[in-house]
Amino acid sequence: MSNNLLKGKKGIIFGALDENSIAWKTALKIKEQGGDFVLTNAPVALRMGSINELAKETTSEIISADATRVEDLENLILKTLEIFDGKIDFVLHSIGMSVNVRKGRKYTDLNHDWLAKGWDVSAVSFHKLLQTLYKLDAMNEWGSIVALSYMAAQRVFPNYNDMAENKAYLESIARSFGYFFGKEKKVRVNTISQSPTPTTAGKGVTGFDGFITYAEKMSPLGNATADECADYTVTLFSDLTRKVTLQNLYHDGGFSNVGVSQDIIDIISK
Ligand SMILES: NC(=O)c1ccc[n+]([C@@H]2O[C@H](COP(=O)([O-])OP(=O)(O)OC[C@H]3O[C@@H](n4cnc5c(N)ncnc54)[C@H](O)[C@@H]3O)[C@@H](O)[C@H]2O)c1
Repeated sequence: MSNNLLKGKKGIIFGALDENSIAWKTALKIKEQGGDFVLTNAPVALRMGSINELAKETTSEIISADATRVEDLENLILKTLEIFDGKIDFVLHSIGMSVNVRKGRKYTDLNHDWLAKGWDVSAVSFHKLLQTLYKLDAMNEWGSIVALSYMAAQRVFPNYNDMAENKAYLESIARSFGYFFGKEKKVRVNTISQSPTPTTAGKGVTGFDGFITYAEKMSPLGNATADECADYTVTLFSDLTRKVTLQNLYHDGGFSNVGVSQDIIDIISK
């Protein structure tokens, strides 16, 4: 159902790899609400993923950009300004990758070169993106920028590995850069802390099935799906949330404030 919440708004969506990606679902919801966007992903993801289908369905252009390369980000943003013949209103940073997680290295035996690579991709890329948007003065006033996070930034989830620090860093960048973006350009910057979600990145975490089932049983409303995350992002890109900024917003069915649920007590008391 469309309320045209994003009618006339233009933006950039990072991170749609395949139809399970949170960014993919968000692109579809944004289109449904009247928004237009450029899709982007790293060159390797463009080759291996199915983003062309999404571009066709949403009549969007695709511009390749490795989010760790400032020159790629500059090219992407300048081309997007050209395509839309004006500044943009929203940006979704839906990017995460840990080499240590991918290669099954335990947190107590990390490869620190891999740690640095994952930190650059998952966290510093957000600063690079914000700084490039800021310097190019690419955002319209009352624009909105969202990145995706996870609760391991605040609490221990042993298998989340070095992504926990990456998410803590990402959330901090949203606050720090959000200050300057708000003060000087009236642009808001937030992170959404999403429930475990069965995507390529999500399923890469060791023990993901146990993880997601546990969260489901802990959350009074159950886990938030990728589609629901997309709906929430639409609200943050809309004009209905203009004074929400510098926040890490939990979108997790209530999980983050539950100590233990009766469902879990029942299971462990059996
Ligand atoms: N799936 C979950 O359980 C979950 C929960 C909370 C938060 N998140 C976060 O949601 C975001 C999206 O992940 P997802 O679950 O949709 O998985 P996904 O695997 O579909 O998306 C991750 C994306 O990051 C992109 N990416 C990796 N390196 C890149 C680079 N150098 N430049 C540009 N893009 C790059 C990938 O190509 C991919 O499109 C991530 O930040 C992830 O940490 C996921």
